[in-house]
Amino acid sequence: MNGTIDLQAESIYRGSLILVNREYGYRERAEDLAVQLSAAGREMTVRTLLQRRAALLLDSLMEVIGGWREIVPVSGWRSYREQKAIWEESLAESGREFTEKYVALPGHSEHQTGLAIDLGKRQEEIDFIRPDFPYTGICQSFRKKAAEYGFIERYPAGKEEITGIGHEPWHFRYVGIPHARIMQEKEMTLEEYISFIRQFPYGEAAYCVREGGREIEVSYLKAKEGCTRLELDPRVPYAVSGNNVDGFILTQWKNGQSGGQSRRYGEV
Ligand code: DAL
Ligand code: ZN
Repeated sequence: MNGTIDLQAESIYRGSLILVNREYGYRERAEDLAVQLSAAGREMTVRTLLQRRAALLLDSLMEVIGGWREIVPVSGWRSYREQKAIWEESLAESGREFTEKYVALPGHSEHQTGLAIDLGKRQEEIDFIRPDFPYTGICQSFRKKAAEYGFIERYPAGKEEITGIGHEPWHFRYVGIPHARIMQEKEMTLEEYISFIRQFPYGEAAYCVREGGREIEVSYLKAKEGCTRLELDPRVPYAVSGNNVDGFILTQWKNGQSGGQSRRYGEV
C-alpha cells in the first residue's frame, strides 16, 4: 500500500531539524508558529515565544522536574530585527570577538526559528547574553531529561569549531524525538547529525532506534529540483523535516518488524 507525498522545494527550509548557523541562514518567518510559554507567561513581563510543539514539550519537562520554580526563560523566539539589535548592541558594548562568539549573525540565529530557548537559573541578576545555567542542581536535572523531550544543548564545549559559536550551557534547541536522544548518545552537534543521516538514504538504508517498544527509522532524502516525491506506506506514522541545506530527514514510527526489506541499520 503506497501513499504519495510531494515535498515542495521550499520545504527544505522548514521543520524541527533545520540547520541554522553561520553558513546556513534562516529564510522563513516563524511568527505565526510561536506561542507564549505558559508557565513563563504568568510571571514574566517579557513574553517568551517558541514554536507550539517545542513550547508544549518544554512545559511538560518543566512540570516533571518542577523546573519553573528555579529556572527562567531568558530568550526564545526573536525577530530578525531583534537579533540585529542584540548583535549591534553587543558589538558596541563588548566588541567583535565576544559578539561573534556568543551572538549569531542576524539572519543566522536559531532564535529566529522559534525552536531555541535560552534558560537561566533564577537569581537577582540575569545576564541576557550569557545567563547562568550551571551543570548542577535543577539546571542539570533539566539537561539530563532534555533529550527525552526533544531538546539538545546546542553549543557544547569542545565543538566550537563545528558550531562556530562559543560554549553556551544555557542555549537549548528543539530538534524532536528521537533525534535529540541520538545526538546526545553520539555526542553529535546538529551539524554532525545532518551529515551523519546522509549515510542513510531513504529506500536503501535507515538508522534505526527503539523507543517505547517501537522501532523508529530515520533516513535522508535528497531534494530534487522542483518537487521531491516520496512514496510511503500511509499506515506508518511519519514526520518529515527539511535540513535547510539540501534535503529532508524522514522519521517513521514502525510497529516492530521492518518488513524484511534490505536495510542497513545503525547500532541502537
Ligand atoms: N547566542 C546564539 C548563538 C544566538 O545568538 O543565536
Ligand atoms: Zn540562545
